[in-house]
Amino acid sequence: MTDKIITGKFPFARMRRTRRHDWSRELSAETRLSAADLIWPIFIHDESHDMDIESMTGVQRVSINTLLKLAEQAVALGIPAIALFPSEDDSLKDENGTQAANPENLVCRAVQAVKQRFPELGIICDVALDPYTSHGQDGILVDGYVSNDVTIEMLIKQAIVQAQAGCDVVAPSDMMDGRVGAIRGALDAEGLVDTQIMSYAAKYNSAFYGPFRGAVGSAPSTVSRSGGKASYQMDPANSNEALREVAMDIEEGADSVIVKPGLPYLDILQRVKDTFGVPTYVYQVSGEYAMLNAAAEKGWLDLDRVMMESLMGMKRAGADGIWTYFAPVAAEKLNG
Ligand code: PBG
Repeated sequence: MTDKIITGKFPFARMRRTRRHDWSRELSAETRLSAADLIWPIFIHDESHDMDIESMTGVQRVSINTLLKLAEQAVALGIPAIALFPSEDDSLKDENGTQAANPENLVCRAVQAVKQRFPELGIICDVALDPYTSHGQDGILVDGYVSNDVTIEMLIKQAIVQAQAGCDVVAPSDMMDGRVGAIRGALDAEGLVDTQIMSYAAKYNSAFYGPFRGAVGSAPSTVSRSGGKASYQMDPANSNEALREVAMDIEEGADSVIVKPGLPYLDILQRVKDTFGVPTYVYQVSGEYAMLNAAAEKGWLDLDRVMMESLMGMKRAGADGIWTYFAPVAAEKLNG
């Protein structure tokens, strides 16, 4: 039985002709995702064992030894870069996060170990004080308020020790004003002119970071509008402000920018990419990862499909690359 021939003034387009076969869907796909689009965030700690992170299925805090195995896996899978997040012992935390600037801290030792074995793998280090401060803020408190300029002094030191340890990219996630320019200037003054800056330019004050704070063991942000992360991270209500943030960071010397979180902010991602055309990355954050896994564990979502669909959505919206905890699993699938 054939479809009835509908006669009318115009032959209408049969969009479904192209969708009918695998080969023509393949040929007409507008967006391609590959392992080369992924950045793999990894949590490390200064222990010899690995520890499951309860809220993030399949993700662990790992030892430097295990990190080396994951780095090897990244290289084998064609994942271009990993990003390191340290979980520091409470005994190393203080009010000012001074451990961040210690050239022998966990992150620096991890960078050195990975670079020595896998020099071709990109390494990204987070620049922010939250893993190191006893209060869990990304910056230094002066009279209970995160001081912009005092914080920047420490961020500069942190970025320098990370770059000296051999990391390829420093990624300031602290949202202090003027830090990109300050870090660029300081790196250049140290002769570290080839260290890239991937700035978290549009980072929102999001509840989707919940599981991450557990993973690195940083204190939860307070809800208070003056003292909490809302005093430096962006208000989810804003979009034009994101463009201004990005413009400033590019002006100050950022090589690339990040929009974070991912799925609730695809509109921002698209505007940023369309407006500036610079390398633009998006971070599928811990809460997004946890959410998809939790629903899948209940049998309510097909994890493979929602994982790929969410990543594809971000690529389609304009991401040049995606930070995601799904990186190794997605890369394996993409490599077929
Ligand atoms: C903090 C930082 C956060 C994340 C990356 N860097 C959390 C925060 O701002 O509280 C979140 C990542 C995630 O949720 O996956 N410097």
